[in-house]
This record gives sequence, structure tokens and C-alpha cells, in this order.
Amino acid sequence: KVADLKGLKQGQLRLAVITTAKYFVPRLLGPFCQLYPGIEISLQVTNHEGILERMVNNLDDLYVMSQIPEHLDVNYQALLDNPLVVFAPVNHPLAKEKNIPLERLCSEPFIMREPGSGTRRAIQGLLDEKGLKVKVKLELGSNEAIKQAIAGGLGISVLSRHTLLTDTAEFSILDVQNFPIKRTWYMVHPAGKQLSIVARTYYEYLLEAAKQFVQPTNFSTYTTAESNQLNA
Ligand code: PGA
Repeated sequence: KVADLKGLKQGQLRLAVITTAKYFVPRLLGPFCQLYPGIEISLQVTNHEGILERMVNNLDDLYVMSQIPEHLDVNYQALLDNPLVVFAPVNHPLAKEKNIPLERLCSEPFIMREPGSGTRRAIQGLLDEKGLKVKVKLELGSNEAIKQAIAGGLGISVLSRHTLLTDTAEFSILDVQNFPIKRTWYMVHPAGKQLSIVARTYYEYLLEAAKQFVQPTNFSTYTTAESNQLNA
């Protein structure tokens, strides 16, 4: 049992996580460090492409990402759902509508993540599949910056539901057809590389923590009514 090993472990843990996982992973480092004060941790937060690059260069022990790399030999394990939802300012006219057709998004100013972002790739995939295009008003390289831009009335966007923490009063999540886009966070590591005992311990710790994680709302049945309640 991990608790039995308390105080025994020394060493380094190098983690790299995609931008959405920074709302989950760093918070859990506190209890882990208390359990294993001898472990030194570095945590990089970057977009999907950045994670792939780090993986190719073998820079980290463990990765958390939403899309398994196609051209790399990796081991992976599902961690948690990472649904993408449509964010709008709290008083947006569409906030009261139900079952909004996807095409309706095309007439709203849209704020898009940077090239190399997995979120962007997922949105683009859905739009391409439906033969649709959004009007990109602004491109921003950060989920937080996008949230600020939405709150400032610049437009709407698609972001991970996890990016919404205590600031729910500022946003509505629109009830749009084809949403949420279902994604999953995976713990990934190169297949040829054996995990150190420290990395293995963290791996098991994170899996356990994910099992206990409670999503603030049930996204799969997310409706405008719930969104209003959330915003009340
Ligand atoms: P991103 O990662 O920061 O590259 O958009 C999010 C994801 O892939 O889920």
C-alpha cells in the first residue's frame, strides 16, 4: 500500500499535462507531496502539440492528454471525462434557448484556441464533419484568456468543462446540438520506457484521485435549466 511507503521514497517526478488538466492535476500534488516529502516534482503545462514534442524528446515520466498520439508507441490509461462545451457570457441571448442547432454558432463571433491545441482540433473536427465554419474573431493561446474575452463580451468559444471552477456566475454553457464533445483525459507514457517507482506511485495515486473526483454538474445531461441554476 502506498501509505506504507511513506518517507521511503526519494527521487524526481517529471510530469507534463495539457492545458485543461491544469485545473485538476496541480491541486492534487499537495496531498501527494505530503505523503512523499522526499520527491521533487516538475510539472509542465502545454498544449497538445507541446506534449507530443516533449514525448518525442523523452522529457517527462508521465503525460496527461486527451488525444492518444497516433504515431508514437505509448501505453495509456483513461483518467477522467473531459467534455468540451460551448461557453458564452452569462446574459447571452442564446443562454435561454434549448437544443440550439450547431449552425447557429456560425453567426456568433467565435474565439478560437491557437494552432497546435487539441481543443481547437476537436472543434475543427466537428465543424469539418458538418461542413460548417465559424467566424473566428480572435485567436488566443490560453483557456483563461479566452474566458476573460468571453466575459468581456467579445464572443463565444468551446472549452473544456473543467476550466469552469468558481467563476460559474460569469458564464452560461449553451445547450447546443452535438455538444458536449466527449473527450477523455488519459495518462500516457512511452511504451518502451519503464516507469520509475516514483512515477508508478504517482500513476496509481492519480488514478485513485480521479475515481473520487466529482464533476460540479452532470455534463452529459446538461441543459439550459441546469445552467441557469448553476448561475443563480
Ligand atoms: P489543448 O489541450 O490545450 O491542446 O487544447 C486540451 C485537450 O487536448 O483536451
